[in-house]
Amino acid sequence: MKNTVATFQQMKEKGEKISMLTCYDYSTAKLEEEAGINGILVGDSLGNVMLGLPDTLSVTMEDMITYGRSVARACTNTMVVIDMPFMSYQESVEQAVHNAGRLMKEGRANAVKLEGGAAVCPQIKAMTSIGIPVMAHIGLTPQSINAFGGNKVQGKNEERAKELIDDALKLEQAGAFAVTLECVPAKLASIITKKLRIPTIGIGAGDGCDGQILVYQDMLGLFSDYTPKFVKKFASLGEQMKAAFKAYDEEVKKGTFPDEAHSFAIDDDVIQKLY
Ligand code: KIV
Repeated sequence: MKNTVATFQQMKEKGEKISMLTCYDYSTAKLEEEAGINGILVGDSLGNVMLGLPDTLSVTMEDMITYGRSVARACTNTMVVIDMPFMSYQESVEQAVHNAGRLMKEGRANAVKLEGGAAVCPQIKAMTSIGIPVMAHIGLTPQSINAFGGNKVQGKNEERAKELIDDALKLEQAGAFAVTLECVPAKLASIITKKLRIPTIGIGAGDGCDGQILVYQDMLGLFSDYTPKFVKKFASLGEQMKAAFKAYDEEVKKGTFPDEAHSFAIDDDVIQKLY
């Protein structure tokens, strides 16, 4: 059965944890769907893990649509949320509605996600009023990396903690169906989760959130540029891939690949006629 915003809400109400992972391509999305992951985020983290950029700022609407629709094609049951990239929603409500509409129409998203607190509530109100489900994202919001001065845990003092609680409540009121909490102290994330009717999805926000999300390359050990403290590696696929690439390289160079089992035959009398 398709996971929808209603499923997420019911899961929170029943106390069932929600699993989400990022994804950017068809083959991996199929595996995540087969594993029973509830929701996929086509995150603008694709700037880092797919495009090799130092941050998410240069990711475009075209990038999000291309990667997003390849994921959507693989997902029958998994909810697909596509990130709104930097400067695709900050300028105006009209810009936000236009670009969210493109992610739904061209990217085949089931919902969109944007970063920010009270400042983006007008955008969220407008999008939800025309039937576009919106996931919010507060705490460490990577599109504001230059304002934060680095990837720092957010909400550690009383003023910032109260601001995050206030933002979360305003986002819920504006119509967001869920709020991502990134790099927020675990006890603060638990308080926010208890205050909200809608689910919280944590990344580096402890076990008190209603759900969790990780970047899939991080949890599979496929991305080695840096590893945040909150990442648990559930596999070391990077090492396995490197070993396979090395074995292939050796066999090609020795001439043991391709062998007969991996080649196509032709009748000898046809070959004779070619000389
Ligand atoms: O872009 C992304 O992958 C995200 C997650 C880290 C929540 O926003």
